[in-house]
Amino acid sequence: ASFTDYQAESATIAQGVVESNHAGFTGSGFVNYDNVVGSSVEFAVSAATAGTQSLTFRFANGTTVNRPMTIAVNGTTVQTTDFPGTGAWTTWQEISLDAPLAAGGNTIRATATTAGGGPNLDRLRV
Ligand code: GCU
Ligand code: CA
Ligand code: CA
Repeated sequence: ASFTDYQAESATIAQGVVESNHAGFTGSGFVNYDNVVGSSVEFAVSAATAGTQSLTFRFANGTTVNRPMTIAVNGTTVQTTDFPGTGAWTTWQEISLDAPLAAGGNTIRATATTAGGGPNLDRLRV
């Protein structure tokens, strides 16, 4: 299947910073979420047709504590997804979920739900 990559460092960031100090990211860096509830990254994703698509987030979490995030499409929450520890900030893993997209432009937002904030987020693949 074909896919498109959306780099977190090019997305719309609320309460987070673009960094590149932990190797293994793709593109030019990653987003270091502020360690607070509500920090977020929003991607502008285009879909040729309406329907369910697989969203794959690539992330690192160098702690041993899960950093769950709510995934919302066009402002509607799809689910809260676990972003567990990956063993090191330089160890990147992918998680996937299915979400309904509209034809044309969509917003996909990943928002931290705990005081640890989100993981470090590299990209979204759709
Ligand atoms: C460290 C790490 C950051 C990470 C942060 C965190 O400071 O270098 O990349 O975002 O921990 O705990 O969120
Ligand atoms: Ca952080
Ligand atoms: Ca990246």
